Amino acid sequence: MKKKIIVIGIESSCDDTAVSIMRCNEILSNIVIHQHVHKKYGGVVPELSARLHDEELLEAVNKSISTAKIKQNDIDVVSCTIGPGLINSILVGYSFSKSLAMGLDIPIIPVDHIQAHILVHFIKNANFNNSFPKFPFLSLVISGGHTQIIKVDGFFKMKVLGSTLDDALGETIDKIARKIGFSYPGGETIEMYSKYGNNKKFTFPKPLIKGLDFSFSGFKTHILKFIEEKTKKEPFFIKKNIYDICASIQKSISDILIEKINMAVLKTNINKIILSGGVSSNKEIINNFSIYAKKNNCDLFVPKKCLATDNGAMIAITGFLKYKYNMFSSNNIAPYSKYKKIYFPNLTTV
Ligand code: KG4
Ligand code: ZN
Repeated sequence: MKKKIIVIGIESSCDDTAVSIMRCNEILSNIVIHQHVHKKYGGVVPELSARLHDEELLEAVNKSISTAKIKQNDIDVVSCTIGPGLINSILVGYSFSKSLAMGLDIPIIPVDHIQAHILVHFIKNANFNNSFPKFPFLSLVISGGHTQIIKVDGFFKMKVLGSTLDDALGETIDKIARKIGFSYPGGETIEMYSKYGNNKKFTFPKPLIKGLDFSFSGFKTHILKFIEEKTKKEPFFIKKNIYDICASIQKSISDILIEKINMAVLKTNINKIILSGGVSSNKEIINNFSIYAKKNNCDLFVPKKCLATDNGAMIAITGFLKYKYNMFSSNNIAPYSKYKKIYFPNLTTV
C-alpha cells in the first residue's frame, strides 16, 4: 500500500451534500452544503433531497479538492455512503461516486453510515480528548435517523445492543421543536432556548422500555399533547414558558440516554463511551455524560460539532480503514434504507 493514501468521502444519505478529502486519517477538507429548502416543509422531502444532491455534488467535490490543495488525480480511492438513509439520495451519491472512481480508474468503497458515525473518532483530533478510543467501547449513536447503542470490538466488529423501536431521537426532537414553532431541524434551537430555562419546571414520563432498546414515539406524543392541552387553556402558554419547556424536554432526553448507557455499562463491564451523531453536539447532553463518566470512572469521547453532524470525513475515514484492511466489495452492491445486520455481525453474547 502507498504510504499516505488520499481518500475522498461522499455523503448524501439525508439533507447534507458532504464531501471530504483526507490524507490517511487527517482531514484536508470537509465541505458540507446543507439543503435549507426543507425548512419550509418542516422536514426532509426525499425527492427534493435527491434532486439537490444531484445539483450540488460536483460543486462540493470541486470545492473539496481545491480546499485540500490537491489535484483530482492525487485521489487514490473514493468512498461513499451506501445506507442507511433516503434511498434515492444515496443512489445519487453512489452513482456519482461510481462515475468518479471509474473516470479516475481507482477503487470505490461503499460505507455504512452508522459505522461511519462511530469511526469518525479515528480521525486525527476528531474528539475533544484528541485521542483515539481503545477497543472495546460502547457507542451511542444519536442522530436524526438513528438511535443505537453499539458494542464496538474492532473497526468492523460491531454489535448492536439496543435500537429505537420506533422514532429516532433527532426525529423526535425535530417534531417537538416544530410543535413549539421552531423551524427544521430544531435540535439546536431547543438547546439555545434551554440555556435560559428551568429544567425542572415540567416533567415528562420516561418511556418504559426494558433492556437497551429505546422508544421515543410515546414520549413525543405525550409532549405534543401536553403542549396542545396547555395551549387550549392558555393561548400564550408556549410563549410564556418557552425557555422552561425547552429546558425540561432537554433534561428528560438527557436522563433517558444516561439511564440506558448506564445499563449498557453495567451489562458489558465496558467503561469507554463514545458519542456520535447530530444530537451528540448538544452541550447539556455532553455535560451530563461528562458528569456520569466522572462519577463512574468511564472514559468519554465526544466528537467535535462538525464531525458529530453528517459530514464527508466520517465516510472518508471509514473508506480509508476499509482500504487499509483490504475490505473491498463488488461495484454493484445495493444501497439500503434501513440498518443492515450484515454490517453488525453477532460477535459475542453480552
Ligand atoms: O447526524 P445528523 O446530522 O444526521 C443524521 O444522520 O440523521 O443529525 C441531525 C439531527 C437533527 O435531528 C438535529 O435536530 C439534531 O441532529 N441536532 C441536535 C443538535 N444539533 C443537531 N439535537 C440536539 N441538540 C443539538 N445541538
Ligand atoms: Zn448521520
